[in-house]
Amino acid sequence: MGLDRRQLLQMSGGALAAAAAVPAHAQVAPEVAAPPHAPQPPVDWSRVRSQFVLAPDRVDMSAMLIASHPREVRNAIERHRRALDEQPIEYLEQNNRRLQNAARQAVGRYMGLPAGDVALTDSTTMGAGLVYNGLLLRPGQEVLTTHQDYYVTHEALRLAAMRTGAKVRRISLYDRLETVTPDSLAANVVGQIGPSTRVLALTWVLSSTGLKVPVAQISQRVRAINATRPADQQVLVCVDGVHGFANQDVGFQELGADFFFAGCHKWLFGPRGTGVVLGSPAGWSAMAPTIPTFLDSSAYSNWISGAEPQECTGARLTPGGFKAFEHIWALSDAFVLHEWAGRKAVADRTAELADQLKTGLAAMPHVTLWTPRSRELSAGIVSFDVAGMSANQAVAKLREWKILASVAPYARPHVRLTPSIRNSPQEVDFALQAVRAMA
Ligand SMILES: Cc1ncc(COP(=O)(O)O)c(C=O)c1O
Repeated sequence: MGLDRRQLLQMSGGALAAAAAVPAHAQVAPEVAAPPHAPQPPVDWSRVRSQFVLAPDRVDMSAMLIASHPREVRNAIERHRRALDEQPIEYLEQNNRRLQNAARQAVGRYMGLPAGDVALTDSTTMGAGLVYNGLLLRPGQEVLTTHQDYYVTHEALRLAAMRTGAKVRRISLYDRLETVTPDSLAANVVGQIGPSTRVLALTWVLSSTGLKVPVAQISQRVRAINATRPADQQVLVCVDGVHGFANQDVGFQELGADFFFAGCHKWLFGPRGTGVVLGSPAGWSAMAPTIPTFLDSSAYSNWISGAEPQECTGARLTPGGFKAFEHIWALSDAFVLHEWAGRKAVADRTAELADQLKTGLAAMPHVTLWTPRSRELSAGIVSFDVAGMSANQAVAKLREWKILASVAPYARPHVRLTPSIRNSPQEVDFALQAVRAMA
């Protein structure tokens, strides 16, 4: 005996009745509005801080780890979550491709490249895996990286070398960090490129010392080498960009990299579990996807017709599968705050707070500051040691003051405080007071 529609609605109460009453067109989520005009400087940073619900009794200087969502992102996630819970399949069908493409457009607008060259991922780590696994390397070709790079780059390269037969060679970025200059660093790295080097794997801002690697100068020198080589032997510059993404006023073209990958859940304060890969035409021509995509409309038609897919693209590199869509779809909303404040103002504010912190730390005899003072060689990460304490002990001591720092997970650990646009000069002073008390 079947139920008729009236009985079904009565049994399931008001919720189903209300959802059923929502016309399908009302379920099309808005793409994020065009960014409002940036305010005239100076930006009201207390207004930026008020977008976050961070516990007010803490000084959170851990922007380099995991984001707290600002209001626009929280609201968007909530809106999508509710709609998905009410009408999962209809909402998915009407919004998925559209909102993922809107996110790619927002990233492209912010970093200055076509949306088609943007892939969406879950994290920096996934980006590194997709890029280094996907590069079409041959036995005998070399990948050059540095001793100072992070676990994620080293491990992704080790796995890629295992599969392809390419060789990984590690060099030191510098002899002495204290005397490094952008020019000496760029000359040192590029000077180590050999005839079989196909990939240069770098990190923009190192999460150990906070050193910002002059990627633009390096890419410029690499271009001169590439001008003398056939296309399939040119050096591809690949960059873990996560600790410069959304705190530096630099676009993808200025960096000059072939691949740039970053998580969006750190300095951008985007939805947790989102990230991007950006690629250049030379990069895409040397790349194959690792995970089947759902985003590229030709993927299924190629499958059905048996056609060979075309060259890799941002859409093709974007892993398919059903996911926590409410987070991915809220990615474009993360740019509202950054575009309201302006990319340059965000970079200036981050540099000012980091400089205030470094100036205070450098004046303390019991502190060794590792991060270069110059803005050319640093971003928002500030790394240091406290005499007589391990990095873990110093971070634990800061927690007693409710100051949230972290330990760099490297062979040589340092304490990291990472001020961001969520922080104020008063909070930096408070952190300095706490470190001073460790003498
Ligand atoms: C340089 C660098 N790359 C990658 C990661 C990992 O980032 P994600 O959590 O987005 O994978 C980290 C960790 O914070 C890092 O310091």
